[in-house]
Amino acid sequence: MAPVLVFLIILIHLCVIIFIPAGCCGSILTSGKNSKFTAVLVFGDSTVDTGNNNYIVTVAKGDHPPYGRDFPGHIPTGRFSNGKLVPDFIASFLGIKDTVPPFLEPGLSNKDLKTGVAFASGGSGYDDLTTVVSGAIPVSQQLKYFKEYIQRLRNAVGDKDAEKIIAGALVIISAGTNDFILNFYDIPTRRLEFNISQYQDFLLARISDFVSELYKLGCRKLVIAGLPPMGCLPIQMTLRFAEIKDRKCVEDENMDAQIYNRKLAKLLSERQAELLQSKIVYADAYEPLIDMIHHPQKYGFVDTDRGCCGKGYIEVGPLCNGITRTCENASEYLFWDAIHPTESAYYYLIKYLEKQVLPQLLFHPTSQT
Ligand SMILES: *[C@@H]1O[C@H](CO)[C@@H](O)[C@H](O)[C@H]1NC(C)=O
Ligand SMILES: *[C@@H]1O[C@H](CO)[C@@H](O)[C@H](O)[C@H]1NC(C)=O
Repeated sequence: MAPVLVFLIILIHLCVIIFIPAGCCGSILTSGKNSKFTAVLVFGDSTVDTGNNNYIVTVAKGDHPPYGRDFPGHIPTGRFSNGKLVPDFIASFLGIKDTVPPFLEPGLSNKDLKTGVAFASGGSGYDDLTTVVSGAIPVSQQLKYFKEYIQRLRNAVGDKDAEKIIAGALVIISAGTNDFILNFYDIPTRRLEFNISQYQDFLLARISDFVSELYKLGCRKLVIAGLPPMGCLPIQMTLRFAEIKDRKCVEDENMDAQIYNRKLAKLLSERQAELLQSKIVYADAYEPLIDMIHHPQKYGFVDTDRGCCGKGYIEVGPLCNGITRTCENASEYLFWDAIHPTESAYYYLIKYLEKQVLPQLLFHPTSQT
């Protein structure tokens, strides 16, 4: 591959990627007895990074216009979209707070700590090799920050209340896309070592360990997002098909995502059965997003195969900037840039998760009560 292309791919993916977490929501959760989450704690990649990358050295940044164009106050916050992300919507639906601050933000108040923060970092993944490419905070390091957070929370509210807050928190985890894109498809480092099935299993083993660590630290309610249709990300279509007119979803990447998702769902239900008093729920991002792609008019979308920023084929992170032409109405687009969904798409995703994921978090089998 030409060095320029490699550079471009790296640059692009630095910013990366997708995916999605999940949630809950709406009327059921906020009504009386069910408003039982104390806080929102968030781990993963750019799909759920509310600004941690503003405080580290990386090119994966969404801290400049036009990012944040439709965020309250129209300010770029480091979120990789035009507006809010799924964790913000969830915190808000739960009646906890309107937005979830990044842990690295200086001067967080005790109230911020008590109601939860995000440890996620754009460009991150479960595989530490992914962040060697992107410069992001790997999930393993996010866990170290979480331990620091627990200490700060204890200092603020005492050990006993800190424990209650953590046990009652909704933990949202969304990552994985960068691992496949930066280590397997576009930059094939891991392909020398693993075939696709083995690499999926390698990542799932990392996730399983991560779940165990969170459980040991007191977390009990986890929602873990699966992969989106990776082959339909504008950047993946652009890289696969040389001619713009030939661009379409990359079917083998979508197939890989679906297989991985089935394995993930199975793993999570096994882990939940093993870990007493836990709720460990799989959140599907694939079905809702592919539905948006197949039936755009249902959602008011006029374009689902390119981003709103620039021509939408490759622009992301530093390439989506103040001098890039940007579409007028981002709500007509599924993608904000060549990788990340618009706030509208996240909103519809939440609506889907509300129906699919929420009930599983709320209803406890009697064996656990
Ligand atoms: C991956 O490699 C394993 C071990 O060599 C093999 O059993 C499996 O069939 C391979 N899977 C794929 C999808 O190539
Ligand atoms: C933007 O697009 C959305 C979705 O198609 C539509 O509902 C809304 O009215 C549009 N807003 C403006 C200002 O045109």
